[in-house]
Amino acid sequence: MCGIVGAVAQRDVSAILMEGLRRLEYRGYDSAGMVILDTHSKAPKLKRHRAVGKVAMLDEAQRADPLAGGVGIAHTRWATHGAPTEENAHPHMALDQVAIVHNGIIENHAAIRERLEAKGYVFSSQTDTESVVNAIHERLDHGDQLLDAVRHVVCELDGAYALGVVSQNEPDRIVAARLGSPLVIGIGIGEHFIASDVAALLPVTRDFIYLEEGDIAEICRDHLTIYAANGDKVTRPVKTTELSADAADRGEFRHFMAKEIHEQPRAVAETLEARVSEQRVLPQAFGPEATAVLSKTQRIQIVACGTSFHAGMVARYWFESLAGLPCDIEVASEFRYRPHVVADGTLFVTLSQSGETADTLAALREAKQMGYLATLAICNVPESSLVRESDLAMMTRAGPEIGVASTKAFVTQLVALMITVIAAGRFHALPESMERRLVEALRHLPRQIEEVLSLEPQIKTLAEQFIDKHHSLFLGRGMQYPIAMEGALKLKEISYIHAEAYPAGELKHGPLALVDSEMPVIAVAPNDDLVEKLRSNLHEVQARGGRLIIFADHAVPFEQDQDTHVIVIPPIDDLISPILYTVPLQLLAYHVAVLKGTDVDQPRNLAKSVTVE
Ligand code: G6P
Repeated sequence: MCGIVGAVAQRDVSAILMEGLRRLEYRGYDSAGMVILDTHSKAPKLKRHRAVGKVAMLDEAQRADPLAGGVGIAHTRWATHGAPTEENAHPHMALDQVAIVHNGIIENHAAIRERLEAKGYVFSSQTDTESVVNAIHERLDHGDQLLDAVRHVVCELDGAYALGVVSQNEPDRIVAARLGSPLVIGIGIGEHFIASDVAALLPVTRDFIYLEEGDIAEICRDHLTIYAANGDKVTRPVKTTELSADAADRGEFRHFMAKEIHEQPRAVAETLEARVSEQRVLPQAFGPEATAVLSKTQRIQIVACGTSFHAGMVARYWFESLAGLPCDIEVASEFRYRPHVVADGTLFVTLSQSGETADTLAALREAKQMGYLATLAICNVPESSLVRESDLAMMTRAGPEIGVASTKAFVTQLVALMITVIAAGRFHALPESMERRLVEALRHLPRQIEEVLSLEPQIKTLAEQFIDKHHSLFLGRGMQYPIAMEGALKLKEISYIHAEAYPAGELKHGPLALVDSEMPVIAVAPNDDLVEKLRSNLHEVQARGGRLIIFADHAVPFEQDQDTHVIVIPPIDDLISPILYTVPLQLLAYHVAVLKGTDVDQPRNLAKSVTVE
């Protein structure tokens, strides 16, 4: 994926670029770089810093040898082609005349490289991007202006890109282009910016143009021109974002993840606001168009990745058991590459925090050709590609989520999904009495999450047991199984402890062989229909000397002993218990990671928004 930021201004843009990169680090953080054109000199030259590691390393290079000027582009990388080295870091340059930053993957880069190498171009990196900058240079060499050169080259590219390009010979502009990767233009007063997302530019503007697929833009200080994929000049609307610049501050917390875990009561309350009354889901929660679609819906197909996929797994239980609607779910990277039989009346639902996940977007685009009844995105970013390209959208209102490990986005997705289940279920098997029960349970949820957050000191103490462990097992049954999966994902991604999740009934078919005193087993045990079955499964663990940690409802007592630790969770309606039981697992993973001293908000090898396949 990677993050891009660029600026064209009267003032020195280096600090704007640096702050933009810090705000984009969630998109990748293995190396960073920037190119600045010293627009105040008579013959501006492209000057570059690049550094391996986080943006802070680039900042050090910039402090040691400051670059300053009115035009610049910068990049934070998540390696796809070539290791995270300085040579592979962006911006890439061709013969010191043109520089480029790129997010995405160019699939035919090898063919372009071969052609250019035959013409004498020398490559200094293993990246796909260097083929693009050299191809642009080739066009400039033929006499093209920068805009025409970029236009020509993008026609040759297969794959996905968001590009920012600057040239020494046209030092007053950036040419930007996007296809398949996000890119916005920020509108300032007498200055313009580009970035992979609005958050990067919030300190300098709140007004944005969202480039559409295939758009190319020529951006100067006081004017900009956008061309659509067919070459026509177009006007794209300017939208003012509601996000505030300090939304990306950690506040009193040591990590964004901790802040985001603690924001969950408010995020849930906001997701419910104006969507539910005392006991009903309000018709305006979805609007008339969506209500018409939901009334015709006969089946549901959910597609998502990562944590969002786990939310979808919970929703499958809800759609089938509460709404009586058959529901399938698949990870997006698999869905998009196999043929499907689409039954009449199937609603296609995507779940995504960012709304930019490449596999989820690609699956949506496939689905739009496949005869689904309609497409619905449940998403946290209103301006995202996923929302813009779906027929219907429901926003999760979690606010910006910065920590790579998703927390409040997941919990609010579950809330939004439950509202969807109720809204669709009304036309099917969901009785009014059940709707009242569910809405009432949802309305109590923010307070119950507060109560679980107050268990943090106990959970922190428990985390100490994991310090010297290498493996762990998470167990749940029924709709707690996806919660066990989510707990395992949280632990592995931020603490690097191997964590697997199993439906507890499967223990005896394999994983029991792994159980010993060195592998903590974590179980999710609300007071539901399956809790006694779970209890038997946990006896199987105890009988083999396993160490158990059980998150259990107060009404289903589990006996504590030196090998079994029980954390009592406040009572909750079992139908929405997966939402509440997620929270202690997030806290556990967080405190284990803090104790292990890992980079909690930016774990190694991962990124928050995966805009590559
Ligand atoms: C990445 C993130 C995960 C996230 C997944 C899907 O892998 O690290 O936290 O769950 O992408 O992202 P989405 O934005 O589509 O929910």
